[in-house]
Amino acid sequence: MAKNQYHHHHHNNNISSSQFSLHFCYVLFTLALISSIPFLYFSINPCKAQNLNFFSSKAAADPPSFSGHLDSLPFAWNHLTFSSNPPPKRLNIALFVKKWPRGDRAGGLERHALTLHLALAARGHATHVFTVYPGARPPPELSPPNLHYHFSAPTRSGGLDQGLAWQQFLAANSTRAFDVIHTESVGLHHFHARNLTNVAVSWHGIAYECVHSDIAQDLARAPGEPRPVKLKSIIADRVFKVIEEVKFFDDYAHHVATSDHVGDILRRIYMIPQERVHVILNGVDEKIFKHDPSRGLAFRRKHGVPDSAKLVLGMSGRLVKDKGHPIMVEALKQILRENALLLKDVYLLVAGDGPWGDRYRELGKNMLVLGPLDRLVLSDFYNAIDVFVHPTLRAQGLDQTVLEAMLSGKPVMVARFAGITESAIVGPEMGYVFSPKVVQVKENLYRVIKDGRDVLSKKGEVAKQRALKLFTASKMAAAFERMFLCISNEEYCRYPLPSD
Ligand SMILES: *[C@@H]1O[C@H](CO)[C@@H](O)[C@H](O)[C@H]1NC(C)=O
Ligand SMILES: *[C@@H]1O[C@H](CO)[C@@H](O)[C@H](O)[C@H]1NC(C)=O
Repeated sequence: MAKNQYHHHHHNNNISSSQFSLHFCYVLFTLALISSIPFLYFSINPCKAQNLNFFSSKAAADPPSFSGHLDSLPFAWNHLTFSSNPPPKRLNIALFVKKWPRGDRAGGLERHALTLHLALAARGHATHVFTVYPGARPPPELSPPNLHYHFSAPTRSGGLDQGLAWQQFLAANSTRAFDVIHTESVGLHHFHARNLTNVAVSWHGIAYECVHSDIAQDLARAPGEPRPVKLKSIIADRVFKVIEEVKFFDDYAHHVATSDHVGDILRRIYMIPQERVHVILNGVDEKIFKHDPSRGLAFRRKHGVPDSAKLVLGMSGRLVKDKGHPIMVEALKQILRENALLLKDVYLLVAGDGPWGDRYRELGKNMLVLGPLDRLVLSDFYNAIDVFVHPTLRAQGLDQTVLEAMLSGKPVMVARFAGITESAIVGPEMGYVFSPKVVQVKENLYRVIKDGRDVLSKKGEVAKQRALKLFTASKMAAAFERMFLCISNEEYCRYPLPSD
């Protein structure tokens, strides 16, 4: 599967069931017009080409089964099943990542690198990590014998020293040539990637997604709050950043989108040929994040949530403006004003902290801001809540917190950013989707409270089933492994293999 030699002979092997259901949908629409009863439903749910299964929504629908060359796979690799046995070929992988996690807290990109390459190491592959020295040797659990670290001092701006990392890479490569090079975002500069056919870059936030965030954030300004002086130039620069990215992204042979939405943008806006874009959805550690009500109960009691609580809402992350807290606080305020009694036995647990922490505390004693939690405690937190609320206005890639909540069996109430709503919370049977405006947040909070614990736990079960199928670390690692194998040896590009 090299950059400039693609095969196009497999593209006709899937009869499009979405086309079929689209036609079917219009027939139904016409019938509905005649019979006029379900018309209201149709008029607010226009037929949608991607919606594979019209009545039971996308959630229940599996993509059609696939066989053929993996570079023509029309949906995320996570939908495929792969052998759980490690392959006979053990890969030698180079990983470029600008930061390596120290301790328990890590950003999305570093967490992705760590989760993935620990899983690959456990399957017998060797990974050489080229990264900035994190300030201390990684602890034993992050240092299996087949994970080799090549640290370097950071550049003055805190980045990865490209010249040095490249020299380290060449030295390691001359001892034993790498089968494949994985770069997390621009960890490996496109200048070095340009002539290599065995590079795969995974994206965790691209400028085009930021444009959407910029728009949402400006619209979320409170009435009377002035627009930041620099915003005009920031937004203009952002569009030029997209154009720059469109130019240099082409230097990377293979692209991994961590959400379906980004896969679409890479093909459509960034003009990368279909067969070089692979969608491998994020996965999170299913051994840490799992459904365990007894741990949830213990966590509630520990934090003073009475057993009589009617409902527990949960949020996590930094409590800053662009995570949507202004609209969330305003929505809660309005509910308190309109119907304080409704919130009487409703609790809010916030795992995180930041400038907006006090605004939550000011809303009442049921609003508990707990500060940042370690991962094990965080998994108790997810078990303690009834619904995970994620109002962020800066959604990029596929947020791991949403996947952690789903794996823990919790429904998610989330702002409508396509990364999440096209891949994770794809239907009302697993959560709630709102456009990031106060009035819609409020409406959804009312609905969540009205639905209550029983409905929420049913939705949580659907969310969990979806997550167990698509969003586990082992599924993500199996998909990456197969893609790396396919990059290094064409034979692995067929699907299914006898071992699948
Ligand atoms: C790595 O080593 C292999 C085998 O010697 C060589 O063909 C390849 O060009 C080297 N890669 C780079 C980037 O130098
Ligand atoms: C890539 O290949 C081109 C053409 O063969 C060559 O001119 C250029 O110097 C190479 N670039 C790098 C970064 O190796």
